[in-house]
Amino acid sequence: MANLIDGRAIAEKVYVDLRREIAELKTKGVTPGLAVVLVGDDPASRAYVRSKDKMCRELGLHSVKLELPGSTTQTELLRRVEELNADPSIHGILVQSPPPAHIDEAAIVRALDPRKDVDGFHPENVAKLVLDDPSGFVPCTPLGVQRLLIESKININGAHIVVLGRSMIVGKPLALLLMQKNTNANATVTVVHSRSRDLEEITRSADIIVAAIGRPGFVKADHVREGAVVIDVGINRVEDGAAERGYRLVGDVAFDEVSKKASAITPVPGGVGPMTIAMLMSNTVKAARQSL
Ligand code: GUN
Repeated sequence: MANLIDGRAIAEKVYVDLRREIAELKTKGVTPGLAVVLVGDDPASRAYVRSKDKMCRELGLHSVKLELPGSTTQTELLRRVEELNADPSIHGILVQSPPPAHIDEAAIVRALDPRKDVDGFHPENVAKLVLDDPSGFVPCTPLGVQRLLIESKININGAHIVVLGRSMIVGKPLALLLMQKNTNANATVTVVHSRSRDLEEITRSADIIVAAIGRPGFVKADHVREGAVVIDVGINRVEDGAAERGYRLVGDVAFDEVSKKASAITPVPGGVGPMTIAMLMSNTVKAARQSL
C-alpha cells in the first residue's frame, strides 16, 4: 500500500513561511493584494474563486473578487484588466479559466501586466520559464506539484517523470519546470497526451507519473510500475446519487488499484488542490516583494 502524500499538511508548511514574509512586507508598508476575476457562473470556477478569496483573508492579504456576468464583453473585460494593472493596491491578477466562449482568452492574458500575472500565463512569463529566469511567475499547479515532491523527499534529480497532458495550465509548464537545470529539477521528462502511441508502455517506465488529462480514473494499475510515485492533478466531478451534492470529486487516477502498486500517491481531494492555492498565495507575495 502506497504512502499518502498529504497536500493539506504540506500547504500548511508553506503558509507558515508565507505568514512570516507577509508580516515583513507589512512593516515596509506593503500588503500583498490579489484580484480574482470570474466571468460567468460555472459552479466549479465559482468554488475555486471562493476558496482563493477565503485563503487571502486568512493570511491577511488584500483580496478583490470581481464576479462579472457571463454576458461581459471582451472590451469590458479588457477595461477591467487595465484598471487592475493600474491599481497600486493589487500585486497579482488572476482571470479564472476557462472564460465563456465569446472571450478571446489569449488576448486577455496578453493584456495583463506581466509583473502582476501570478498565474504565469503571459508570454513574457512563459519565456522566463523556458529561459530559467527566476524573476518570472510559474503557473501555480506545476509549482505545487514540484513543491509536493520536494517536501515529500521524492528525488526529482535524474528521475524519469512522465507527465500525462499538455495543457497550458499544467502539462506544458510542468514539463519545462521539471527539466530546468537545478537540483530541484534536472528530471528526464516525457510528455504523453491523447494522441500518444504506446502510452502505457511509456508510463510504465516512469519513476514519477503526473496525471493531468482531466479524465476520471484514466491511469490504471497497468500504467504504473511497482514502486512508482503517482501525482494526481485531476479534479473531475462525477455524478453520484448517494452523495449530498449529487456528485463527488475524483482524480485522473484509479486510486484503489493504483495505490496498491505505487510507493507514494496523492489523494483527490487533499493532494495537489491545496498546493495550487498555496502557490497562488506564494506568487502573490512574490509579486508584492518584487514591486518594492
Ligand atoms: N482554472 C483552473 N486552474 C486554473 C488556474 O490555475 N488559473 C486560472 N486562472 N484558471 C484556472
